[in-house]
Amino acid sequence: MTDKIADSHNLTFDDFDEVVNPRLLEPEFDNIVEAALSRRGFLGGVLALGSVTALGGGLLPSSARAQNSRFAFENIEMSTADTVKLPAGFKSEIVARWGDPIFSDTPEFDPATRGTAETQARAFGDNTDGMDVFFHQGHTLLVVNNEYTNRSVIWGNQPESGPDEDAVTKGMMAHGVTVVEMVDGDAGWQILKDSPFNRRITPQTEMLMTGPAAGHELLKTEADPSGTKPLGTWNNCGNGLTPWGTYLACEENFNGYFSAEDEAHKVNADLKRYGISSKDWGYRWASIDPRFDVAKNPNEPNRAGYVVEIDPTDASSTPKKRSALGRFKHENAECVVNNDGKLVIYMGDDERGEFLYRYVSDNPYAPGVDTDDLMENGTLYAAKFHDTGAGEWLELSEDATGMSKAEICVHTRQAASKVGATTMDRPEWVAANPNAAEVYCALTNNKNRGIKPNAGGDFTPVGGVNPREANKYGQIVRWKPNGEDHTADGFAWDLYVMAGNPEVHEDARRGSANVHAGNMFNSPDGLRFDESGLLWIQTDGKYSNEGDFAGQGNNQMLAGDPVTGEIRRFLVGPNECEVTGLSWSHDRRTMFVGIQHPGEDGNSQWPDGNDVPRSAIIAVRREDGGVVG
Ligand code: FEO
Ligand code: CA
Ligand code: CA
Ligand code: CA
Repeated sequence: MTDKIADSHNLTFDDFDEVVNPRLLEPEFDNIVEAALSRRGFLGGVLALGSVTALGGGLLPSSARAQNSRFAFENIEMSTADTVKLPAGFKSEIVARWGDPIFSDTPEFDPATRGTAETQARAFGDNTDGMDVFFHQGHTLLVVNNEYTNRSVIWGNQPESGPDEDAVTKGMMAHGVTVVEMVDGDAGWQILKDSPFNRRITPQTEMLMTGPAAGHELLKTEADPSGTKPLGTWNNCGNGLTPWGTYLACEENFNGYFSAEDEAHKVNADLKRYGISSKDWGYRWASIDPRFDVAKNPNEPNRAGYVVEIDPTDASSTPKKRSALGRFKHENAECVVNNDGKLVIYMGDDERGEFLYRYVSDNPYAPGVDTDDLMENGTLYAAKFHDTGAGEWLELSEDATGMSKAEICVHTRQAASKVGATTMDRPEWVAANPNAAEVYCALTNNKNRGIKPNAGGDFTPVGGVNPREANKYGQIVRWKPNGEDHTADGFAWDLYVMAGNPEVHEDARRGSANVHAGNMFNSPDGLRFDESGLLWIQTDGKYSNEGDFAGQGNNQMLAGDPVTGEIRRFLVGPNECEVTGLSWSHDRRTMFVGIQHPGEDGNSQWPDGNDVPRSAIIAVRREDGGVVG
């Protein structure tokens, strides 16, 4: 490894961002501290109430809290074992792993070689993340994001001097999206090789840019003077599901793949806001494809950071980048059809101090309408959370921002800064309750809260929806749109849960009243409701099981009752993994769960029992064959 790689190789995406774009302490830092201190009174007041009436239940009628538990499982203990743990009465099987071929002309994964660029392009990608299962004309189709790669694993057989060109290309081909048909046979759920639906979408797949930014100057490159034909998608984190049955892959940390041969090259302020620099995260894509050299192709980064719509039922369809949904580090895209038929999409921008967004279509959805229109013509808003428990959606209009519609869709962060949206503790997945006009968002953690501004210099004061300084544990906020109308300007919010450690801390870091020694966790990330109305919570946090995180074990999946506030731990993953991605079979008798980057620090042999750990999707079932969620 060269020094350039060694510098950034083991950094998280967030730490990488701060290395390439250090957050400078503003002169007004004293003001931030002052605000933080005054807000501690607010937090103390909430916690002094000491129950879920304020945190987890505050919006609910008291009668609702007396209902019987709706959980069909017992809370399980934390675990530090290198395996998947489930409650009594449940079992799991492996469905698909990084490197599993999806076509019969491709060899099975070989842990010695770890595949080639050519085989990887025809095999299941790495680091499974957001996913959905579609039931189409009798076929069960799994669509899954392959967010990034564990370079220490995928290049674990490469020389000290660094990966060769084929290994760099293999890394690129392990990114993107995998579409496979699955069958449930004697061996459980397996990939059906050679199904006409099977497809790999990679950073080289042809795409179409749509919406206000399509064809804009900012999107034109030497290779694509039309500004409408970007190539590929990468770092897709969470996902979305449209009412008409297409899949939304959300581009998150797209910045870490760009670099410049000339390390002294300085990018402009707009690129810097998105964390683009002369230095990449260690992938070396610019060494095999000059479009990732930002000095040579300064507009190429403007063609990434979008939501990509994919039709899983047609393997020859062209994925569409939906610029109307804005450009930022997209986590997921939660679609809701409002009472008036309008399509409302809630989206988080997962970076310290960035914003929470809402998109509202101009026209209503109805079966048979032009669905392209619904994700091309609409309005973006950013959320403002007041300390009072009220909130409002601030329109990113041309008037309010002084930017054109296209500019708002490319420089969405800058637009949201201009309207004064609330800087958040890293908004992750958003999930809408199917039984109520109520929406939840995981705010995973933010070590800069109350300490440093965001990448645009906006203050990150402590208080309200982001109540803890240097937030280590995260919280889940929820809001009810005024009048049960998802297009309303206003909403009421509370915190469903503040994660914490009541065994270690007695102050606000102990967490809210629905957190106890037996269910504690940190860094909520994935959120999804099941049909019964339980909220599933997946974690991507610290798994040291020491200090602030003592007793929390490996990353895990829990379920929360939105009515009572009760949270139970359902699953604990193997060592050094993140649990992310959740979907169900058509009959709801299988729950599919993603296990991402087991052994990212070299301490897992999951799932094959050897020293090449592999991200994988598992199928979870009840031993009695009953419905799971
Ligand atoms: Fe890829 Fe925000 O997690
Ligand atoms: Ca995530
Ligand atoms: Ca995450
Ligand atoms: Ca991860």
